[in-house]
Amino acid sequence: MSDDAPKGLARNASNYGDRDMALYLRRSFMLSMGWSREALARPTVGICDTGSGLNNCHRHFPELVRAVERGVLAAGGLPLPFPTISVCEPSLSPCSMYYRNLAAIDTEEMMRAQPLDAVVLLGGCDKTVPAQLMAAVSANVPAVMVVGGPMMATRFEGERLSACTDCRRFWAKFRAGEVDAAQIERIEGNLATTAGTCGVMGTASTMACIAETLGFLLPGTAAIPAVHADRMRAAEASGALAVRLATAKDPIRPRDLVTPESLENALRVLLALSGSTNAIVHLAAIAGRAGLRLDLHRLNALSDGTPVLVDLKPTGQGYMEDFHAAGAMGAVLRRLKPLLHLGTPTITGETLGERLARDAAGFVDPAVIRPLEDPISPVGGLVALFGSLAPRGAILKRAAADPRLFETEARAVVFESLPDMAARIDDPALDVTPQDILVLKNAGPKGGYGMPEAGYLPIPKKLAAAGVKDMIRISDARMSGTAYGTIVLHIAPEAAEGGPLALVRTGDRIRLSVRERRLDLLVDEATLASRRAGWTPPPPATRGWDLLWQREVLQADEGVDFAFLRPGGA
Ligand code: FES
Repeated sequence: MSDDAPKGLARNASNYGDRDMALYLRRSFMLSMGWSREALARPTVGICDTGSGLNNCHRHFPELVRAVERGVLAAGGLPLPFPTISVCEPSLSPCSMYYRNLAAIDTEEMMRAQPLDAVVLLGGCDKTVPAQLMAAVSANVPAVMVVGGPMMATRFEGERLSACTDCRRFWAKFRAGEVDAAQIERIEGNLATTAGTCGVMGTASTMACIAETLGFLLPGTAAIPAVHADRMRAAEASGALAVRLATAKDPIRPRDLVTPESLENALRVLLALSGSTNAIVHLAAIAGRAGLRLDLHRLNALSDGTPVLVDLKPTGQGYMEDFHAAGAMGAVLRRLKPLLHLGTPTITGETLGERLARDAAGFVDPAVIRPLEDPISPVGGLVALFGSLAPRGAILKRAAADPRLFETEARAVVFESLPDMAARIDDPALDVTPQDILVLKNAGPKGGYGMPEAGYLPIPKKLAAAGVKDMIRISDARMSGTAYGTIVLHIAPEAAEGGPLALVRTGDRIRLSVRERRLDLLVDEATLASRRAGWTPPPPATRGWDLLWQREVLQADEGVDFAFLRPGGA
């Protein structure tokens, strides 16, 4: 936009065919909200609020909105909070991923359509942050992000609990008969006891750290606990920063922050954190909005050269409150400095290198954030697999997997769909051994459930009761960032798209080789061709969101975004 384009409330006039009347009406209606004419003449800062009575992770957002408003007002701006849909992981069916793109559309259009010089994006729970980053890149309105921050762990009967790694740990014990109904009910009441996002390095925390790495957050704010007073101070400071963006002659915009270099930095951080597999999908979507492609072969190259530094659950020991106390993202980025592109910009106007130079003497607790020369693992936590079963790739979180299973050839035990798995997984008559590979089909983007976090297939009850803790499980689904196990995810193309996964049958042999980065179906081509001839796609959706989703959704390696939302609509 040219420098003399209308600003503040004069921006984006409604189209009545008479611009002066449109602005007269707008001023009149804004005056009805009790603002003075002086206030209405200020630069406008939208505050994108994803609070909701159905989103426990965002229950402190009214307080955060007020803190941002304070910062905007004190810096001379006009704060204008507005709601967008809230996407809370456990509150949505078929899954929150199914609505990430809807949240991104809502946010993008409100950023673009409303008279806003800059925006503060308030996100946190799993899909809200990627949705807002996707939207910001597309709308390209100057934007600073404030995340809700992680919840605190709860002291409980001699240990600490936090959502949601401990949720899964105790549920697995309950299934195995090691925890009774009364105890699981007490645990249920102590897993999430404060405001904030899941208290481990799950998807929400991973995406917050990635957003800081990309430069969308004020430095050092990704991991401040939700209930810490610094969280509100960060919100206030972000409001003030948004006013500076709103009044800058040539402000930094979201597309300035998403570049091939900043995406590589984000992948390095993801690997060093041993962060969530979901971040790969979200980063691919964010990159796609900028016309860039996240290359899974490049992920493998970076993974081989990026050590795991951070010792947090689900793969390690600590909680997000420990990460914050240990130095948080400042410490991680300083540790990784020799591996990062330091010229990437951040929302404050500093480059990443300038930020780290200013922060050079910051505190770091080496027990939680290890030095580069003494890592938890010399290689990154995630790898991409390719092969006849995953021509466009699949993801394995090797840091959360059992290395004894990394080189395996075994028999497949196949579930055709989520209902099929639910019906049979605990059947005492199920023909399964601990050496088998469990396969779930039709749980990818087009499988009818929006690519749910179903990739963490439960260990069949009879095996769990016999003490089996891990098996190879493969699917086109996702997995919660708080889960763990030898689990291959995001197989592309998916079964519902007619990918090779659709052709797997119980009894087939599958070969996994983490060393070779391969996942292969050991069935001859003639057999596969005859199975392919008998394959039918899922029934078409008939209306509404289901129809739009089924028509437009892309595969996992392209971020599960909609094709028409990328530059050029492809
Ligand atoms: Fe909101 Fe985990 S449920 S971050």
